[in-house]
Amino acid sequence: MTKVRKAIIPAAGLGTRFLPATKTIPKEMLPIVDRPTILFIVEEAIRAGIEDIVLIQGRQKTSIEDFFDVTYELEDKLERDGKEKMIEQLKRIRSMANIISIRQKQPLGLGHAVFSGRPVVGDEPFAVLLGDEIMVNKEGEDTPTATLARSYESTGLSTVAVMEVPEKETHKYGIVEGEIQPSGAVRVKNVIEKPSPGQTKSRLALPGRYVFSAEIFQYLETTQPGKNGEIQLTDGMTALASGSGLLASQFKARRYDAGDKLGFLQANIEIGLDHPEIGAGLKTYIQELARRL
Ligand code: G1P
Repeated sequence: MTKVRKAIIPAAGLGTRFLPATKTIPKEMLPIVDRPTILFIVEEAIRAGIEDIVLIQGRQKTSIEDFFDVTYELEDKLERDGKEKMIEQLKRIRSMANIISIRQKQPLGLGHAVFSGRPVVGDEPFAVLLGDEIMVNKEGEDTPTATLARSYESTGLSTVAVMEVPEKETHKYGIVEGEIQPSGAVRVKNVIEKPSPGQTKSRLALPGRYVFSAEIFQYLETTQPGKNGEIQLTDGMTALASGSGLLASQFKARRYDAGDKLGFLQANIEIGLDHPEIGAGLKTYIQELARRL
């Protein structure tokens, strides 16, 4: 079975939920403690064995590419100051993967953004990782993308990550309907983008991690605008489910909705608590704060 070596990361959004911070900074560059959110996403892909990362970008997003490139002046200064550890960290970031950038010239929807990656992905299977969701795994544990890639490599079927959400939250996500199989995975029949209350009984939501066979491109090419007038990835997925098939499986990870202000702060606090430099200090501060509240 073909190995999953490529990943598409849609990063063309305008970040309106984080204005005014995102007026001149892409939301993918907002930091969780000291690392931009895009680095968490790229690292998850790398840990799944991905070699080529295809960024789908809009205008004013060149700082994401620059982040994965050399910054001569900075590295020169760090070298003169003897900051070896920091230089090593920067080198590690830029040699992580091949970063390939494609411009999505019009914001026509997530399905269209993923379709824009076709010239680089070609006929290979590929992962899609949405940047708003940050997944944190323990060292040595499979990341959600790794779980999906291994599922594809053993079954030959496109597989997407799902998680159970309460009924009142189904309108925020793509929701998967299907039949549970003896393996525990769900054989997907239908995917509904942000259903209205009562539109589905399913609580299985898509948190933005997918592995697809290249077949999905042929459906996305003809997908018409759907929910909110956008070309929806979920509509392409429904077509794929009736084509060669689609599986959905639950995953193991701490998940943060970093596309939301509260989720972004929670990610900063929890990831901060694990941070070797500030973890202990942050814990003491939170304990003191809790006494004052
Ligand atoms: C997108 C997808 C949706 C998915 C969600 C996960 O929606 O369209 O199916 O469940 O990401 O974050 P968005 O949140 O970009 O509106």
